[in-house]
Formats: sequence, C-alpha cells, structure tokens
Amino acid sequence: MSNKIAEVVILIPINKPILGNEEKEAVLKVLESGALTNASAEGGFFVKTFEKDLASFMGAKDAVVVNSGTAALQVSLLAMNIKPGDEVIVPSFTFAATAGAVLLVGAKPVFVDIDLNTYNMDPEAFRRAITSRTKAVIPVDLYGLPAKIDEIREYAERYGIAIIEDACQAQGASYNGRMAGTLGDVGCLSFYPGKVMTTGEGGAIITNDQELADKLRMIRTHGQTKGYDSKLLGGNFRMPEIEAAIGIVQLRKLSKFLEARAKNARILIEKLNEADLILPQVPENTIHNWYLFTVRFANEKIREIIRNRLLKEGIGATVYYPTPVHKLPYYISLGYGKIELPNTEMASKTVLSLPVNPLIEEKDLEKTSKIIFEVLSSIS
Ligand SMILES: Cc1ncc(COP(=O)(O)O)c(C=O)c1O
Repeated sequence: MSNKIAEVVILIPINKPILGNEEKEAVLKVLESGALTNASAEGGFFVKTFEKDLASFMGAKDAVVVNSGTAALQVSLLAMNIKPGDEVIVPSFTFAATAGAVLLVGAKPVFVDIDLNTYNMDPEAFRRAITSRTKAVIPVDLYGLPAKIDEIREYAERYGIAIIEDACQAQGASYNGRMAGTLGDVGCLSFYPGKVMTTGEGGAIITNDQELADKLRMIRTHGQTKGYDSKLLGGNFRMPEIEAAIGIVQLRKLSKFLEARAKNARILIEKLNEADLILPQVPENTIHNWYLFTVRFANEKIREIIRNRLLKEGIGATVYYPTPVHKLPYYISLGYGKIELPNTEMASKTVLSLPVNPLIEEKDLEKTSKIIFEVLSSIS
C-alpha cells in the first residue's frame, strides 16, 4: 500500500463493532460481581447463559464458547482426535487460522481449490484430495456464504471424514433453513470485532452431539471437569465472563444487524447490476449473512485502480485475501508454495469487498457505486 493511501481517512469502514449502553451495562455487571472467569468445564454464569442463548439462536443442541474462532477450530480438531500423521483438507482462499489450527494440533493441512462462483471449496477438488490419511475436512463459509455442504457431506460420509465447518464469517447465514455453523459435524464461529457480532475476542463451537460437547468443554479448560483432575489434553481456551456478557447483548441485536446488511446488499446489487464486474452469487435455498459483499473484476490492474480510488474517497474497500494461505511466507517455508490452485490465485488477484455493514447509509452505497462506474468507464 502506498503512503498516500495509508494516510487517507477511512470514513466508511468495511466492518466495525457496533456497541452501545447495553454492552457497557453488561460489562459493569460482571465487574461488580467480581467473578471474571470460571475454570470449571461448565463455565461461569455469563458463559452458561451465552451458550444457552447461542444454541437456541443456532437451532442446535449445544454451543461451547471459547476465547477465539481459532481456538474453536483447534479445540474441535483436538476433540475429534486429529493428530500428527493425519491430513485435513482445507481451502487456501481463507484466513490463515483455518490451516493454522490444523498445524497447531500437529496434523497436515492439504490445500484444495475453490469454485469461482461462490469462492468456497470445490467439492470435486475435495474428493480428489482424499487419501487414506484424510481424517477431516474444513469447509469455510467464506464471506458469509455457506459452503457447498451437500456434495462435501456426500464424499465425507463415503470416506468416513469428519466435517468441521469454519463458519467464523457466516453467523446468521443459512442453507435449506439450517444455520451456517450447524452444517457440519461441528461448526466454528468467531466473535472478533468486525464480525457480524462481537465479544471483543471470542468464538464458539456448535454441535448436536452431547458427548462431544462435554469433551469440548473439558478441552477448553485443560481437560478438567471440576479442577485439577485433567482427564484429557486441553488448554486454556476459556471465554472470560466479560466477553460472554457482551455476547449475550450482541446476540439479541444480531437479527437487526443482519437485516441492515441484507438491505444494504440488496441496494448495492441493484446499483451495480449493470457494471462490468461480477456480483456475489447466492445459490438457491441459501441466505448470505453479508459479512462481506465481494465483487470480482476482469483483472488485478482494474481491481487495484478501483480499490485505490475508493480508499482515496474514504471508502474502506478491502481485499480478502490478497495472498492465498499456501503462498504466505510460513506456508512457503513448509513447502506449500508450488501447489497450483488456479481459481484461488485468480480470486486473490481480482476480488474486492465493499462496505455493507449496518452503519452504511444509502448515500454511501450511492457513492461507492458511482465511483466504480466512473473508474470502469474511464478505463474501458
Ligand atoms: C474464515 C475464518 N476462520 C477462522 C477465523 C479465526 O477467528 P478468530 O480471529 O476469532 O480467531 C476467522 C476470523 O478472523 C476467519 O475469518
């Protein structure tokens, strides 16, 4: 990024936490209680309440909250006994945490390509990557659009592979009436600021399997049930009470946040309908949560001109992700750099996400689309 762009003031951020007095009051309540955390497997009052509310929102039997989306992935992998020597199939067009969690449990991430219409894992690429060592697959619901779960499930069931859904970007999205996060054997959510709702840092694991939920709760607190009785290998993945208290309030507001995103996305689709770009594609029976509204341009040069111009005008257009995970320095050092994933490479060069968060007003969307039309016509 040039210095000039780094200096501009982003008036219209891509995403931003939306917090009010209710969150302040919730935090104060925890501070006044003095009970900031609870190291038992079941957790403290606010953790337990947040878990109950979240499971109900998700239409799932259980939700186990942890201290990040990355922790949700790692704890899920541990609970499913994924270990050194095992392979876990992941997309490369995602945030590094998806693959990083696999490495953190000592297993090997195997990167596969995406489908360019949805930017999600190509089920056929998944099938081709399966070996006798494949123990799990992590489909990512990228940008908030559920992965192609029917095809993925068909192959996963055929070969006895566990599905850990990375729904860290997709809370509130759904497929066939089922929430993103409940489409795999377990689903992981993130409450990082800027996600559709936040707890500061935080994450959750969604499951309908009660036995697995018990195990997840133990792993998040050193494999303990009550205290100093480690029965499993675990760690400290606990969500603090302050975060859980914020989460309870944010969850109550989530439907309103999602409605505002959907409205903004609808407006932007209408405005950009005639523009020379590829709009987000939402398959049938699918509800996008519009965490990110991502368009694609003919080539990288055009994408960069438009991105720079939008940034100059204070619009926080952002590329998710400019470098596929297998091409990040650490992954190159592991020998992944030479893998060929043409759709992933193409997407990373041409996608651009535009702000549609609940704080965006119609005039901001008007400004965004006007700039895009202007730049496209000046270079055509
Ligand atoms: C696809 C994906 N997976 C995993 C994560 C990790 O979540 P967290 O940042 O809460 O650890 C994120 C969020 O940033 C994400 O976008």
